[in-house]
Amino acid sequence: MPLYLQLASHYRQAIHKGALPPGARMPSVRGLMGLHQVSMSTALQACRWLEAKGLLEARARAGYFVRAHRTAGLPPAHEPSPTALIDEARYVGVHQKVSSVLAKALAQPVRVNLSGAQAAPELYPLERLRQSSQRVLRQHGACLVTPPPPGGEPSLRSALARLALEQQQLQLSPDEIVITHGCTESLTLALRAVTQPGDVVAVESPTYYGLLQILESLSLRALEIPTSPHTGISLPALQEAAALTPGLKAVAVVPHLQNPLGAVMPDAAKQALLAWCEQQDLALIEDDSYSALWDGPAPLRPIKSFDRNGRVILCGSLHKILAPGMRLGWMSGGRWQQRLEMLKYSQSRPNESLPQLAVADYFNAGHMPRHLRKMRAQLALQREQMAEALARYLPAESRLSVPGGGLNLWLELPEGVSSMALFEAALAQGIRLAPGAMFSNTMRFDAFLRINCGLPIDEQVRQAVQSLGQLLRGRN
Ligand SMILES: Cc1ncc(COP(=O)(O)O)c(C=O)c1O
Repeated sequence: MPLYLQLASHYRQAIHKGALPPGARMPSVRGLMGLHQVSMSTALQACRWLEAKGLLEARARAGYFVRAHRTAGLPPAHEPSPTALIDEARYVGVHQKVSSVLAKALAQPVRVNLSGAQAAPELYPLERLRQSSQRVLRQHGACLVTPPPPGGEPSLRSALARLALEQQQLQLSPDEIVITHGCTESLTLALRAVTQPGDVVAVESPTYYGLLQILESLSLRALEIPTSPHTGISLPALQEAAALTPGLKAVAVVPHLQNPLGAVMPDAAKQALLAWCEQQDLALIEDDSYSALWDGPAPLRPIKSFDRNGRVILCGSLHKILAPGMRLGWMSGGRWQQRLEMLKYSQSRPNESLPQLAVADYFNAGHMPRHLRKMRAQLALQREQMAEALARYLPAESRLSVPGGGLNLWLELPEGVSSMALFEAALAQGIRLAPGAMFSNTMRFDAFLRINCGLPIDEQVRQAVQSLGQLLRGRN
């Protein structure tokens, strides 16, 4: 047998036995050369053979990974019904629901937390961020006693503009970027800039509960629009709802790795939404918190990159992708830029300099692309492992959306199950869940759960999934 086939069959066995589980990274070509004392062409031929057999997949600039056995998994979550009635715009009243779930969840110590949209601290580049912070303190220690510049530190605004250009085909000048305290502040400012209390904002349904809380805090009404777990907000449904709804001022969407669905809007759908917002004279608020965690072969293009008329307010964050402890976000406000700058200044004054300068130093040292490659590969593995555990232990009538990136899966429970009731039962066993009902002003998503895969999927997590399966089968 040629050497490359011997090598390939060694790894084929490892994959079949589960020693290399779905989503696991193959040793790199260089790694294979060192481990097996083979030439580069032998190592490459072996990987290509395994790829041709459907056992490996190549990911751009990240190497080869074991392909997931998707066929053995759960079927995908249902699409919203095209004939579903659309709700009226309503004042948001999620505070009670969300706060009581969060308060109950936090009041009890838990063994396993499946509820967050967060990654383990080990997935972030602590050491490099510490080095950058120390360098800034040594070289620019005066930033601790000097008021920070309005709009944000020029070095960070420039670094973000460069990153947007290199990774998202988005041309922004540093002056068009305002640094904020995370995407939460960006969204709040965006909504304040384009609405008055009582106005209507169209949102995806389900949507991130934090957005609903912001709408509630600003006395805005939410118009919930059916949203596909795969392709995002439905434009026909939005058009129909808008025709019946006076007072609509803005549309707020998360086009990439939507929370909680994981949906990714195709470029054509983004452009169609933008064109319609132009025609209707609506502000388009784009929350791009997660696109850097997309695992596809090409980076995702924000709607803002198609925007020629300043129609889109882009809200970004480093909270999920780089440094959850630094609470840094940013935004670019198009035609509302000046108003946003004024609102930011009046709402919270400029952000502290130290974290901004430290992150600018980190970006300028060129560490970001490698960090993101590593983080995406680890998250891909964890998503696959979690999907496998759910498929193994949950009733077969469950359905699951496994997005091509990010921190969460969207799980549809068997008919008749209430995620609120399951939340209580699981909490009693030390398992924290995020019930689907939190992601809407209605109870429409009570039969869903958002499942976090940002933390390592270890034995304790698998046991927790097994317990969920038992609870769902009514055996506990
Ligand atoms: C879609 C979305 N937007 C915004 C936020 C909040 O972002 P930040 O922590 O940067 O304020 C989250 C957090 O989970 C989110 O999922």
